Amino acid sequence: MSKVQAYIVTGAGSGIGQAIAKRIVAQGHPVFGLGRDSKKLENTAKLLGAKNFFFASVNLANSNESSQMNAEIRKWLGHNDLTLAGLVNNAGVVDRGTFDSTSDGIWERQFQNNLLSAVRLTRDFYPELRASAPSSVLNISSNLGLRPIPNTSAYSAIKAAMVNWTQSLALEWAPLHIRVNCLCPGLVDTPIHPFFGQDESSEHRQMAHQLAPLGRMGTADDIADAAWFLLSGASSWTTGSVLSVDGGMGL
Ligand SMILES: NC(=O)c1ccc[n+]([C@@H]2O[C@H](COP(=O)([O-])OP(=O)(O)OC[C@H]3O[C@@H](n4cnc5c(N)ncnc54)[C@H](OP(=O)(O)O)[C@@H]3O)[C@@H](O)[C@H]2O)c1
Repeated sequence: MSKVQAYIVTGAGSGIGQAIAKRIVAQGHPVFGLGRDSKKLENTAKLLGAKNFFFASVNLANSNESSQMNAEIRKWLGHNDLTLAGLVNNAGVVDRGTFDSTSDGIWERQFQNNLLSAVRLTRDFYPELRASAPSSVLNISSNLGLRPIPNTSAYSAIKAAMVNWTQSLALEWAPLHIRVNCLCPGLVDTPIHPFFGQDESSEHRQMAHQLAPLGRMGTADDIADAAWFLLSGASSWTTGSVLSVDGGMGL
């Protein structure tokens, strides 16, 4: 009997990561969710049911913590006779501010949290992804990585690097049948934004809705729909793609 296909999703305690985990579990696949805050991950487990959502808290920007965590994930895969069908590098933090106020520390924080942590996790699980090929990696970048706006230089530059890394890795791993794709969300209504949870009539939310030609902000489920397409066999001939899901904002 073939093994059950499992997925790792980073940043699964909230927003886009939680919605992607929900979508994968709904398709009948177990998910190992990662994030720093165990309360948020517990909340996702309550939402999805403990049967198919497993989690552990880890700061992925810390290489020691991260490698200890990998052992735990490997144990989970082994004990449950699972094969790693996909890895979603979604965890991220945003830093806003003018370029002249963006310190080395902020650049470093962006690099560690939004790029190196994903690079490291992908490299660490290469043996599993290779063994279970056809498999796939999905990186969550941003439309700011394609078309930046003022006051987000570190975030935008690091997200642009993620797009480029996606494409070089896609070329390198295509012969191994490990697909590597990238999603670039526009403005999505998640806790990453200060106006998340505010009353719908608030000025900030109204402005955010108006920024998209389609007339509304995205939802985490909008991104999860596209994520499942890129993870699943429905996109078996797609690698190195950079898909904007942004209500037309990038135009
Ligand atoms: N919402 C948007 O408008 C938008 C647009 C474009 C791109 N994105 C990208 O989408 C991704 C998800 O963001 P979101 O909007 O869903 O916001 P969110 O709800 O704040 O999710 C970010 C998640 O990343 C986790 N995380 C951050 N740093 C981490 C670390 N060092 N180790 C482990 N987990 C970490 C956070 O969990 P803990 O707090 O528990 O650590 C959190 O659950 C991010 O990469 C973001 O840049 C979002």
